[in-house]
Amino acid sequence: SAAEKGGYDYFMLKEIVEQPQAVADTLLGRVGVDGTLTLDEMRLAPSELREIEKIVIIACGTSYHAGLIAKYAIEHWCRVPCEVEVASEFRYRDPILNRQTMVIAISQSGESMDTLMAVRYAREQRARVLAICNVNGSTIPRESDGVLYTHAGPEVGVAATKTFLTQLVACYLIGLYLAQVRNTKFGDEVNAVIGQLARMPEQVQEVLGTVGPVRELARSLSGSGTVLFLGRHVGYPVALEGALKLKELAYMHAEAFAAGELKHGPIALIEDGLPVVVVVPSREGRGVLHDKIVSNIQEIRARGARTIVIAEEGDETVRPYADELIGIPSVPTLLQPIIASIPMQVFACELALAKGNDVDRPRNLAKSVTVE
Ligand code: G6P
Repeated sequence: SAAEKGGYDYFMLKEIVEQPQAVADTLLGRVGVDGTLTLDEMRLAPSELREIEKIVIIACGTSYHAGLIAKYAIEHWCRVPCEVEVASEFRYRDPILNRQTMVIAISQSGESMDTLMAVRYAREQRARVLAICNVNGSTIPRESDGVLYTHAGPEVGVAATKTFLTQLVACYLIGLYLAQVRNTKFGDEVNAVIGQLARMPEQVQEVLGTVGPVRELARSLSGSGTVLFLGRHVGYPVALEGALKLKELAYMHAEAFAAGELKHGPIALIEDGLPVVVVVPSREGRGVLHDKIVSNIQEIRARGARTIVIAEEGDETVRPYADELIGIPSVPTLLQPIIASIPMQVFACELALAKGNDVDRPRNLAKSVTVE
C-alpha cells in the first residue's frame, strides 16, 4: 500500500532515502566516542581473530560486490590475505581451507542457497565462518560461527540498496576491528578511518540531497542500447555494482571494466555517443590512480564517448573531460564506495522508471534465491 511505501511510488525509492538511517543504525553501539569498536555479538574472540591467516569472502550478486570492496580495505588495514569468490563457484573447485581460515559469508537475506552451501562446505573443512546478514535468525547466521548483523531494516525492493551500503559498513567494521585486535602498524590510519566512518550517515544524506541532476540524466539515456562503467581500486567494484543495477532494473546491457584494462580490449567498444560512467578515486592518498583515470576519461572522450563522471566535489581536473559531472563529498578512498554507489542506484532506478519498469519487482528475479 501507499502507506507502507511511505508516500513513495516504490519501495526502492523509499529504501534509497532510508540509507543515512540504515548506515547510522549499523554503526550504532559499535563505535565508541574514543574510537574503540565493540563487536562482541560477533561471537569470535580476539584470540581467535589473531590466529587467522587467510580470509575468504563468499557471496552472490550485490553482496559479492560488497565483498570485493572489503578485500581492498581488509588487506590494507590488516595485512591478511583476502580472497573473494562468488558463492556458486566456491565449493566446486576444491578451495584450500583450514582452521586458520576465516570465511566471511555476506548475504542480506541469510537464505541464498549458493552462499549457504558454501558456508556448510567451509565449516566441514573446519574454517571459521562469520556471516554478515540483515535478517535476524535466518539460516546463514544460524549455521555460522559468528555474525555481524546489518541494521538496514526490512528491504522489499528486489535490487539491494540500503542493505548493500550497510554491508559495506559491516565489512569496514570487521576490517578495522581485526586491525585493532591484531595491532597492525596502521594504528593512526585505522583510528582516523573509524572517525570518518562515524561521519558517513551525514555524507550519505548529503549525496542524497544532490542527486536531482542524476535523475534527469538517467531519463535522457533511456533510449541507449548499452552503458559502460569504469573504475579503479575500490571504484572498480562500484562500477560492477552500477552495471548490475542497470541490468536488473532497466534490463539494459551494461558492463563494467577496471579502467586500466580499457587499453587491453574494451576501448574497441567506444563509439560516438556511447555513455560511459566513470568513478574517479579520491585524490587523498591515491594521487597516481586519480591522474591515471583522468587520462582514461580523456582517451574515451577523444573517441566519442559521452562521459558521465562521478568525482569529488571541487575536483577541477576532471571537469574539462566530463560531459556530465556528478559531485560527491571528499572521503578517504577506501570509504568512497559508500557514497559513490548512491548516484549509481538513483541512475539505474530512474532509468528503469523512465522505461516503465517495476523497480520493486524486476522481471525474472527474486529477492532471495533459495535454489542452487
Ligand atoms: C538475489 C537478488 C540480488 C542479491 C542476491 C544475493 O539474486 O536478486 O539482489 O544481491 O540474491 O542475495 P543475498 O540475500 O544473499 O545477499
